[in-house]
Amino acid sequence: MKVVAILGGQWGDEGKGKIIDLLSDRFDVVARYHGGHNAGHTVKFGDRHFALHLLPAGAVRGRIGVIGAGVVVDPDALLAEIAGVREQGIEIGDNLLLSDRAQVILPWHRLLDAARESAAGDGKIGTTLRGIGPSYESAAARKGVRVAELYRPATLRARVEALAAETGALLRALGCADIPETSAVLDALGRSAEALKPHVRDTGRYLRDHLRGGGTLLAEGAHGAMLDLSAGTYPFVTSSTCTSAGVAAGLHISPRALDGSLVVLKAYTTRVGSGPFPTELKDATGEFLRARGNEYGTSTGRPRRTGWFDAVVARTAVELSGAAAVAITKLDVLDDLAEIPVCVGYRLDGHELRDVPPLVEDLDRVEPVYETVPGWRTKTTAATRTEDLPPAAHRYVRYLEERIGAPAVFLSTGPRREETVWRMESEFLRALPGA
Ligand code: GDP
Ligand code: IMO
Ligand code: MG
Repeated sequence: MKVVAILGGQWGDEGKGKIIDLLSDRFDVVARYHGGHNAGHTVKFGDRHFALHLLPAGAVRGRIGVIGAGVVVDPDALLAEIAGVREQGIEIGDNLLLSDRAQVILPWHRLLDAARESAAGDGKIGTTLRGIGPSYESAAARKGVRVAELYRPATLRARVEALAAETGALLRALGCADIPETSAVLDALGRSAEALKPHVRDTGRYLRDHLRGGGTLLAEGAHGAMLDLSAGTYPFVTSSTCTSAGVAAGLHISPRALDGSLVVLKAYTTRVGSGPFPTELKDATGEFLRARGNEYGTSTGRPRRTGWFDAVVARTAVELSGAAAVAITKLDVLDDLAEIPVCVGYRLDGHELRDVPPLVEDLDRVEPVYETVPGWRTKTTAATRTEDLPPAAHRYVRYLEERIGAPAVFLSTGPRREETVWRMESEFLRALPGA
């Protein structure tokens, strides 16, 4: 398998950063294909700790990092992130490529995100307020600014002025007072464009040539399948395609290039922001999972909502991405539990549901159908060998595998790179480059 995608299978923060980091030394290129700096991917090894938002996790391992055309890029956020990882001793130079087709997040997008959320009151999505949704809206409306335009002053001015006129009117209608001056935005864009220039290139052409030459590629998913714009818990979703279906479109490569996908799943479930969450625990057990799992957002620091593993969600994610394997993370967080409920279906108005219903008002009302699996009450933290896991932990993993229909090839027992069980007997791992 030369081209592999790693994707989130729940509502984000499954531990994708860790799994991508584990595999990135096997691939020449690691590429982000969607989302923006709403993502927060943690990479830890030894005493090193990186919180990445736009930079592909492979950057930390010196791989070539690509930010593809499907990504929405806030130039200042990207420059700040580059500066931050450089301060941590990571070289970012020729090894970072930014697509000339990527959409630019402008200040009006950020303001619109905030104004909409504030106008929505209790109905707010709980976005990261980074302007992600409005930026994708501009792209779909064909009113967006792309990276290549940053280097054509006259074109840029015309497009920014048109966007400012439209979104300015909307912002005023929403009661936003502090609307930025176009000239100030253009000046700032000019400065950041200059700083980003060495990285800008036709990354689609680069990747297609790279693949034609037999090169390898790891596609880095952000968010999670239930945050997918179309397949997720709409409207409480993000604005991009979070399944493997987005890889080709977001990187400008052929869909036939993708050889395999792996979905990352937390051994329980978390969600940040609003929206339905059938297995949510609003009690002491939920608080226990939050404290034990350190469930606070990597991007925004918000406490994550916590709940039991939802096999309906996980199976859907595996199916949507055609995943041949999963990684189960944060197994160690469950170490002290006597028993572990798993949601295997939903009940709504006396009917059994096997799938996530299309309307959130229904998903809000479903009653999860649980099966309970015995816990292990043994420390698994930092275990690296299959034989170091207690039999009950193996049974829990096997149970999840059966329910979701894919084998778990990584079992993660701590945040660090080293704290991982690699199931080397799995076909998926044996088919990876360098195996
Ligand atoms: P991502 O968005 O999917 O990359 O996930 P995040 O990095 O936002 O959140 C996952 C959090 O869990 C991070 O703080 C990781 O360091 C941490 N983490 C990942 N795997 C494990 C694990 O197996 N055990 C524990 N205790 N923490 C983990
Ligand atoms: P990673 O890649 C968790 C959520 C937000 C909000 C909704 C829409 O770290 O897993 P947006 O700002 O995207 O318009 O917000 O999506 N969300 C995430 N939640 N992890 C993420 O990314 C997320 N990216 C977006 O909390 O509910
Ligand atoms: Mg995250």
